Amino acid sequence: MNRDGITPDGILQLGFGFWASKVLLSATEIGLFTELAKGPRSLEEISATLSLHPRGARDFLDALVALGVLVRQDGRYANSPAADLYLDRNKEGYVGGLLEMANARLYPFWGNLTEALRTGAPQNESKGGGEDPFKAIYGTPELLKGFLKGMTGVSLPVAAIVAERFGWRDYRSFADIGCAQGGLTAYVAGRHPHLSAIGFDLPQVRPVFEEYVKEKGLQDRVRFEGGSFFTDPLPRADVLVMGHILHDWDLEQKRMLLAKAHEALPVGGALVVYDALIDDDRKTNAFGLLMSLNMLIETPGGFDYSGADCQGWMRDAGFRYTSVEMLTASHGMVVGVK
Ligand SMILES: C[S@@+](CC[C@H](N)C(=O)[O-])C[C@H]1O[C@@H](n2cnc3c(N)ncnc32)[C@H](O)[C@@H]1O
Repeated sequence: MNRDGITPDGILQLGFGFWASKVLLSATEIGLFTELAKGPRSLEEISATLSLHPRGARDFLDALVALGVLVRQDGRYANSPAADLYLDRNKEGYVGGLLEMANARLYPFWGNLTEALRTGAPQNESKGGGEDPFKAIYGTPELLKGFLKGMTGVSLPVAAIVAERFGWRDYRSFADIGCAQGGLTAYVAGRHPHLSAIGFDLPQVRPVFEEYVKEKGLQDRVRFEGGSFFTDPLPRADVLVMGHILHDWDLEQKRMLLAKAHEALPVGGALVVYDALIDDDRKTNAFGLLMSLNMLIETPGGFDYSGADCQGWMRDAGFRYTSVEMLTASHGMVVGVK
C-alpha cells in the first residue's frame, strides 16, 4: 500500500481473473456439476468418478466453493442453487454448452487478443484462411444441436423479460429472426396464447427447432421458416425479433438487416432487438465491451453497440419511433416502430 491507501489488489485480481475462469470451464468440461446434481459427494467419490489426480482435486473443489459455485458441508460437495439450475447438463436451463465451447475454442483464441488488436483480424479457426468454424458446426448435426441448445440456455432469462416488458397484447403475430432452437420463440408464444409465431433461421436448424416446439406443445401456433436473412426476404409478421443477431455483423450488414426488417413490417409493426448493449457513454457495461472484443476474435466485422447507436441506425432505416430499455445488468432491448 502506498501512502494514499491505494493498493494493487484490484489490478492483480483482474490480471489473474483467468485462473477463476478456467477453473469453472474445466469443471464444466468434466461434468462436475452434472454429477453433483445427482447428490452431494465426497472428495474421494468425485475424484474416482471424474478421474481427478489427488494432487489438485482438493484445491480445485475448494476453489469452486470459494468462488461460490459449490458448497461444502460435512466434507461433502454440492452445487450452489445457480450451478444446479444452469450447469447440470440434464436441465433445460443448462448454459454449459456455451461454456464448453468457450473452454474448447474461445479460451485458446483469446490468447491471441494482442494480435487481433494489432491486425483487426479474427483469431478463431478461420485465421490465415482456415475453415469457417460455423461451417463445421452447421455441417455436424450433434455440434449444431449443442450450439443451438446453448443459445436457449443463455437467452431464456432475457427472453422471459422480453415476454413481460414488450407490449405483445397489441399484436397478433411475430417472427424470431435467427431463432436458433426457438428459446425466445416458444417462451413468448407460451406466455401469450393469442400470438402466432414463426422461427426463421438457416434450413439446417429446422429439426432442432421443430423438436423443441413440439416438446412445448406449441406446434399449432409456432412454425419454422428456413432461409438466409442475407439472400431471402424476412417473414411477414406484426413484430420481428432479432436477438443476438446484429452484433455478429459489420455496420453495413447491420444496416441492411434493419432495412430488411423495416421493409417486412406493416405500418405500426415493431422490431425488437436485444443484445449485450454497451452503455451510451461506453464506460460501465464491461460485459458489452468484452462481448464486442469477442466479436473481434470470432468474426470478420462484428461488434457490439449501444442503445443510442441502434436507435440511430433504426431511425436511418425509417423507423419512426424508437426506445431502449435495459433488461438485465448486461442485456438491453431496443424497439423500433414503423
Ligand atoms: C447467436 S445466435 C442467436 C440465437 C437467438 N436469437 C438467441 O438470442 O438466442 C445467431 C443465430 O443466427 C442464425 N443465423 C446465422 N446466419 C444466418 C442467416 N444468414 N440467416 C438466418 N439465420 C442466420 C444462426 O443459425 C443462429 O441461430
